Amino acid sequence: MNKKILVTCALPYANGPIHLGHMYEHIQADIWVRYQKLIGNTVYFICADDAHGTPIILQSKKLGLSIENMINQIYLEHINDFSRFNINYDNYYSTHSIENKELLINIYVKLKQKKLIYSDIIGQLYDTKYNLFLPDRFIIGTCPVCFSSKQYGDSCEICSTTYNALDLINPKSVLSNTIPEIRMSKHLFFNLPVFNNILYKWISSGVLDNCVVNKIKEWFNVGLKPWNISRDAPYFGFLIPKENNKYFYVWLDASIAYISTFKNFCQKNNNINFYEFWHKYSNTYLYQFIGKDIIYFHSLFWPAILHSIDFRKPNKLFVHGHVNIDGKKLSKSKNNFITANSYLSILESDYLRYYYASKLTLSVSDINFNLEEFVQKINNDIINKVINLAARSSKFIIDKFNGYLSKKIFDQTLNNIFINASNEIQLAFEKLNISFVTKKIMYLADLANIFINNNKPWLLTKKNNYHDLQNICSMGIHLFAIIMAYLKPILPSLVKKTELFLNTKLVWVDHTTYSKLITDRINSFTHIAKRIELAQAKLIMI
Ligand code: MSP
Ligand code: ZN
Repeated sequence: MNKKILVTCALPYANGPIHLGHMYEHIQADIWVRYQKLIGNTVYFICADDAHGTPIILQSKKLGLSIENMINQIYLEHINDFSRFNINYDNYYSTHSIENKELLINIYVKLKQKKLIYSDIIGQLYDTKYNLFLPDRFIIGTCPVCFSSKQYGDSCEICSTTYNALDLINPKSVLSNTIPEIRMSKHLFFNLPVFNNILYKWISSGVLDNCVVNKIKEWFNVGLKPWNISRDAPYFGFLIPKENNKYFYVWLDASIAYISTFKNFCQKNNNINFYEFWHKYSNTYLYQFIGKDIIYFHSLFWPAILHSIDFRKPNKLFVHGHVNIDGKKLSKSKNNFITANSYLSILESDYLRYYYASKLTLSVSDINFNLEEFVQKINNDIINKVINLAARSSKFIIDKFNGYLSKKIFDQTLNNIFINASNEIQLAFEKLNISFVTKKIMYLADLANIFINNNKPWLLTKKNNYHDLQNICSMGIHLFAIIMAYLKPILPSLVKKTELFLNTKLVWVDHTTYSKLITDRINSFTHIAKRIELAQAKLIMI
């Protein structure tokens, strides 16, 4: 049955480059999307730049650019990085768009009509040197719950409590290093607590993995709090109608940009029906990939907003942990930061895709990027096991048979093992247990290499046993084709080269399709992939 699926990644901020941390999310989502397309589902994959908020203003000042120039420039860089990693977005847009503004205001009016918005006068931390209200991430202090120092104004990284910045002990401005003062101002609140029961039911309905659900339940135990959706000037974003110089909080319009980005996509593609994907009773699917740091927004605010406007909620939030580099958080100041661009200037995009795939489980634990391990994994798995299988089998087929393969499946038992793996691999792709996929495929690659080792084509050629030589090497190529077909969602660039080598388009493998992978003739084997030298790989760190 053909499913219609909409997939999103969290919208990267438009104030800096895409780095290897972001790439973990975009790569896993892209693998999943490619897999869904390969098995015949209709999938639309969208994302956008998150271009609003105070940090955007500060960064543009730092760069000496106008805000518009900076977000336009960064937008182009982001698009370029994603496309070079073969992240196949159907639409990559921006929160700073006409569609987003329109939709945001419509939704706001609806929320007001439903009496879900109220105003209150509250105190907020103000930086008197920079003359602005400080965003949570620009305030640092001691956690009021576990007393860990150096915690941000919104939540504690040690005990995961979320709190009001005013509750932070000894708050300081990250910008000016001064002690901020409390200033009173009118703000608008979305009444999140009224959704308590609906949300509690929803988070437990299978949309999230259990470990994440348990975390969210802690927030329910403390009690949901109203959500401040307004910000004072100076701010970069959309003005709130009928309010005096107040802006919508960046997180409100960023969430709504999931919808407006799809709307913009539908405007460009008349055959796609916007409401079919978003109305309350939609039977299409919505899958969203997010990092563990933004669970609160996506599991509480976002579904509550969708519920309020009678839109559908996601079927699944795929939550991932963070990428650390050599065990440490990505940080520019600590020289622990690899941009997508610096990686791509030295290494193949598919290698990172494979490395991340091999680490991707259902857990939300952080993963570690380690160059030695990376190099070893690529050289062992991709080069020694997979590419080498093609190289050693194709050599004889090209030299002795002018590229022609025999049509015979020489080892039917081995062929069956390869085809039967399809179910298990499919299940693992479906659940996003991609490390299992790579393990299973490498197990198959080991079997294929053992088959070649046992049958020793190099001896057959000496004995002039051309009949068996062609059958055995053709079997090697056939097994290679199945392996690459399974790897197609993970390694799009290597698979493209493989398809040229094999003279065939690789399809999803099962009992009915595998014969399509058998080709008549292969092309000569040239550099589908190269080994990595550690010294060369180290250049990405600079
Ligand atoms: N703009 C918000 C998301 C709005 S969605 C309505 C945001 N942007 S972000 O650029 O900080 O992060 C975008 C995504 O990248 C998030 O899912 C975040 O978890 C992920 N990552 C950012 N750094 C990361 C790592 N070091 N490792 C893995 N993922 C990381 O949040
Ligand atoms: Zn704490």
